[in-house]
Amino acid sequence: MLEKDIEKTFYSEQQIQERVAVLGEEISREYQDKFPLVVGILKGAVPFLSDLVRAMPIHMEMDFMDVSSYGNATVSSGEVRILKDLSTVVEGRHIILVEDIIDSGRTLKYLVDLLKHRKAASVKIVTMLDKPEGRVVDMAADYVGFEVPNEFVVGYGLDYAEDYRNLPYIGVLKPEIYENA
Ligand code: PRP
Ligand code: MN
Ligand code: MG
Repeated sequence: MLEKDIEKTFYSEQQIQERVAVLGEEISREYQDKFPLVVGILKGAVPFLSDLVRAMPIHMEMDFMDVSSYGNATVSSGEVRILKDLSTVVEGRHIILVEDIIDSGRTLKYLVDLLKHRKAASVKIVTMLDKPEGRVVDMAADYVGFEVPNEFVVGYGLDYAEDYRNLPYIGVLKPEIYENA
């Protein structure tokens, strides 16, 4: 079972759901007459996006993009490759980019630049987690769920080797999970 691999919980399911409800209300107020295009960045954003849009009782459209950094992640060039593009025309649309976490900021920097280049009417960022200590490029979210310290967190979309995304809370793995890898 997943539970036994977790050393400590950072944010419980209840804390997350309460925060998502507040974010949903705030964002809905800003976008209620704008028919926003809510864009989830695969795969990490899926649980958060799924909860967030159900806390937003406004008209909206949803779409998804999948991107990956080129080459070795530890010495990332900062270049990003599109694995799956939007199926929606961006020009003139109010875009809400939904992420599970901002770390270096490179993924979102690339996406914001791309969407502006495609003539979006506006682009804003909502992220469940912000890890400010990880930042390499200048990037700030418009809506943040929680800040996290520079630790490797999993759950609520965040993976370790593609595992643990479906944990309903955010936590830290026991060290032996990495050691046995
Ligand atoms: C993770 C995370 C963000 C991005 C943040 O995605 O979900 O999308 O990295 O890092 P950055 O701010 O340094 O760019 P990843 O590329 O691991 O893909 P995944 O969502 O499929 O796990
Ligand atoms: Mn991601
Ligand atoms: Mg990942």
